[in-house]
Amino acid sequence: MEKLVINGGRILDGKINLQGSKNSALPILAATLAVGGVSVIHNCPKLTDVSAALKILEHTGCKIKREGHTVIVDSSEASGVEIPECMMREMRSSIIFLGALISRFGEGRVTPPGGCEIGLRPIDLHLSSLRKMGVKIAENGGVLECRTENGIKGCHISLAFPSVGATENIILAALSAKGETVITNAAREPEIKDLADYLLKCGAEISGAGQSVIRITGGRTLRGAEHAVIPDRIVASTYMACAACAGGRVAVDGVEKEHILHVISAYEAAGCRISVKGGEMIIKSPERLSRIKSLRTMPYPGFPTDSQAIIMAALSTANGTSVISEKIFENRFRHVPELIKMGADIRVEDGCIAVVEGVERLCGARVSAGDLRGGCALAVAALGAEGETVIDNVYHIDRGCEAIENCFSCLGADIKRA
Ligand code: UD1
Repeated sequence: MEKLVINGGRILDGKINLQGSKNSALPILAATLAVGGVSVIHNCPKLTDVSAALKILEHTGCKIKREGHTVIVDSSEASGVEIPECMMREMRSSIIFLGALISRFGEGRVTPPGGCEIGLRPIDLHLSSLRKMGVKIAENGGVLECRTENGIKGCHISLAFPSVGATENIILAALSAKGETVITNAAREPEIKDLADYLLKCGAEISGAGQSVIRITGGRTLRGAEHAVIPDRIVASTYMACAACAGGRVAVDGVEKEHILHVISAYEAAGCRISVKGGEMIIKSPERLSRIKSLRTMPYPGFPTDSQAIIMAALSTANGTSVISEKIFENRFRHVPELIKMGADIRVEDGCIAVVEGVERLCGARVSAGDLRGGCALAVAALGAEGETVIDNVYHIDRGCEAIENCFSCLGADIKRA
């Protein structure tokens, strides 16, 4: 098992290029199966989740070439409609392949997806939406057998919650539907717009992506396309936390400011000075962070749940008491006991509210990553802690953060993978 060994207490001063977005790359890779032909996807981060998506594509018969951060997918000859459980369990995003399979072949056989254990993470909204579009779904020994008898039909789907994954699955299935599909209360995350931007290049007819109402006219002739994945807004927020926690100045190249307005406001409220010019973001930390009286995670454009653990790590040494409410997932405080091992003073109330009493300093400890963003939070906390921190279960971090030790080293941190 690999570990990260971090010697904290170094003031940061460095510059880093921002990686491509995991949460954009994964649905776009699934979409390459739906559209057929050859797609060239640039700025694809080198992550274990991306490798898992490529394995699924290969399993369905796609040919894959990887050149640096570019992935070329030829899905012309794809024909497999079943994704084995071992591949489905690798990550939550595997469920987006269901929409792609149904769109391309009119059928698909999958098992429920895996991914970080940050709550129940049901797929009821995905399945009820697909059913409404005419997909018959039967569960047989843990396998979801999905097929259409008379093709997919366009319809009006009003989501009870703006689920990112459900919105992506509906968009993919709707590509080959008869007529128009209208999604109301759709997720507005930038990754949804990026998926739609790729599909538009492939010949799809989609309007409203990035807003609450998305319209997709099915049945257009689709072809592969070339597309560059947007920058990763969650990793951008991780670098903000690095500067906030360890102190110093961090420059991040390739930032899309629009995507992180709420996160910038939060770090500014804590006393950081942040400027973004021409895609370069510079974060300067104050002597000591101020508390944030109240912070609540929300669907986009609110403060992202994926950045919650990371800002908590920074606020654990702020001056005063911060209150963080997690409103998207039920089990997203798995990093709290680990931060406490490092000397943080955090109390969880009602399972979804963390009261963070800022302490003077964290100290190095042996801790374990329980999920992707929680693991990143521990790495961030370790940068500001006194002494050595050893983080186990680094594979969680590798799912979403490309070579974290190289990135943090670029910023001036003392970090090694062992
Ligand atoms: C995506 C992101 C994840 C992020 C999350 C919320 C990817 C690969 N992952 O996950 O990093 O944290 O959005 O921004 O893009 N829900 C249901 N039923 C469903 C679907 C979802 O109840 O059928 C609930 C979930 O349990 C959760 C909430 O809705 O409480 C949000 O889930 P959703 O937006 O679907 O997140 P994901 O697409 O899984």
